[in-house]
Amino acid sequence: MNFNILKKSANTSARLGELETLHGSFATPVFMPVGTQATVKTMTPDELKEIGAKIILSNTYHLYLRPGHEIIREAGGLHKFMNWDGSILTDSGGFQVFSLGELREINEEGVTFRSHIDGSIHFIGPETSVEIQNALGSDIMMAFDECIPYPATFEYVLSSVERTTRWAERCQKAHNNIDTQTLFGIVQGGVYKELRRKSAIDIVSLGFEGYAIGGLSVGEPKKEMYDMLDFTVPLLPDDKPRYLMGVGTPEDLFEGVIRGIDMFDCVLPTRIARHGTVFTKKGKLVVRNAAYARDFTPLDPSCDCYACKNFTRAYIRHLINVGEILGIRLTTIHNLHFLVTLMQEIQKAIEGDYLLELKDEFYANFGILQY
Ligand code: GUN
Ligand code: ZN
Repeated sequence: MNFNILKKSANTSARLGELETLHGSFATPVFMPVGTQATVKTMTPDELKEIGAKIILSNTYHLYLRPGHEIIREAGGLHKFMNWDGSILTDSGGFQVFSLGELREINEEGVTFRSHIDGSIHFIGPETSVEIQNALGSDIMMAFDECIPYPATFEYVLSSVERTTRWAERCQKAHNNIDTQTLFGIVQGGVYKELRRKSAIDIVSLGFEGYAIGGLSVGEPKKEMYDMLDFTVPLLPDDKPRYLMGVGTPEDLFEGVIRGIDMFDCVLPTRIARHGTVFTKKGKLVVRNAAYARDFTPLDPSCDCYACKNFTRAYIRHLINVGEILGIRLTTIHNLHFLVTLMQEIQKAIEGDYLLELKDEFYANFGILQY
């Protein structure tokens, strides 16, 4: 993997960069659509390409449980299995075992948990997570970490941060495919500045090709999250990509980019799409609502995605209300196009040094208060 910074924003910490993997290169800051189960829900790979996606995220935890990473290894890796020839980042399972699995035990070795599917008992530790991610063959793998719930005591977060660092080192030792796959470290520390500092220093001293900030957007107030970014990002090396995990509302993208984040992922655009909610330049719109029964305009008149070029709110509302699959396919296409395009606008604004102006205009139209 290669990462080059092409331009630094004049009056913010934003950077325009280029990240290259064996599956192509793309501009950063970037938004990664989430394809948890080896598919970005409802989207074909061609449709993903058409909206401009170059990298997607998938999940160790889910693919280990079903279909099993050995089947994906046999298929020739995740890219072949799902016929996606763009880049793939896999999360380590260090978040999903805590949020989905019914937890049995965390100890120094790893985590024993019950599958959310059939209740069977499994174990994932740093070595197993890396082995699974090696079998999947993702371009970027994540270290196995403990994502601490919010709130948590200082003592608990301290011991967890120390363990996450030991696990990160074990991930490095277990990582076999260093020629084809890159491993990122993850900084934890909850909302304690001292522990964020400790985690950042310890993880950076291990030396990774990229650094993620984890354990945010887990229920803390937004101001706390932005404070943690203000504090943590400057502790990370300037020349490596920085990834804010699981974050992706439009305002979080702006606030993250301005603080120096290069990569984001979030289930939000695809999840709300399946519930009939879409992003527009004028804010969120619940197209499912009766108000749109006779609205023969596109989801967002300013959008040039496939859904907006060809269909009306009234039609998409109808499809969703009668349970037709095409409805949620169209809202998904639109929402992903919205965020990927927003990131392209952000990239141009960094290049042209008008990022704060773009943010002000976007917030005013979208109806976001300034932070
Ligand atoms: N996704 C969102 N937050 C996190 C985190 O803290 N760790 C991992 N591994 N994945 C995440
Ligand atoms: Zn659209």
